[in-house]
Amino acid sequence: MSDTDHEDGTDPGRVLCWRGREVALAPLDVYDAELLHGWRSDPTAAHEIGIWPRSLPALRERIERDQGDNDRDDFLVLLPDGTPIGHIALTDQDLADGTAEAHLLLAPGFRGHGHASDALDALTDLAFGELPLHRVEAVTHTTNAAALATLARSGFTREGVRRSACLHRGRRHDVAILALLREEWEAQTRPRSWDL
Ligand SMILES: CC(C)(COP(=O)(O)OP(=O)(O)OC[C@H]1O[C@@H](n2cnc3c(N)ncnc32)[C@H](O)[C@@H]1OP(=O)(O)O)[C@@H](O)C(=O)NCCC(=O)NCCS
Repeated sequence: MSDTDHEDGTDPGRVLCWRGREVALAPLDVYDAELLHGWRSDPTAAHEIGIWPRSLPALRERIERDQGDNDRDDFLVLLPDGTPIGHIALTDQDLADGTAEAHLLLAPGFRGHGHASDALDALTDLAFGELPLHRVEAVTHTTNAAALATLARSGFTREGVRRSACLHRGRRHDVAILALLREEWEAQTRPRSWDL
């Protein structure tokens, strides 16, 4: 066993930097581009996130560029055995206003097991327990039932709808705005990431 092996069996190549109840978070690396590219190409994800199918080299470049940005943190979501199951990010961090935006994507085979709320709770613990943020926002199609339910379960309140705000697959979509405020996070009684 090398110095970097984890006793819990996680991939020795990854440094885990944060954790949820079951999942752990590790910084997203350029080497993860292929994984992310596969997940983003899943028809549900491609539709819900509304992204262009970027080429793999373009995604690699994007990850590398994002790593240099001080206003975002990107993580791979990992199961306890080290299996990567998704991507979660806190972007547009504005420390003056105390705002940021949450993004979440799970691989199709790992949806429906509560990992999304677990990862999102961990991200909000980071936003309010490590960073001096006051408001974390999330934006998703008004028809994205799984995302809306996940956000609600993690305490996000629906604030409104931007009507006809995005064009995707030849038609306009309404977009829901949700947010979790610091005082709402403080009122949550669940264990925090650092207590787990
Ligand atoms: C959004 C996402 C991360 C949620 O993860 P998930 O594992 O699918 O979430 P779950 O299956 O645990 O579902 C969460 C809730 O939504 C409900 N749900 C899931 N699919 C649903 C559907 N089609 N209709 C109604 N409710 C649904 C579940 O019952 C669950 O409700 P509960 O909290 O009351 O138990 C995942 O679906 C995903 O990666 N989607 C593609 C990318 C995306 O949409 N990202 C969000 C953009 S912000």
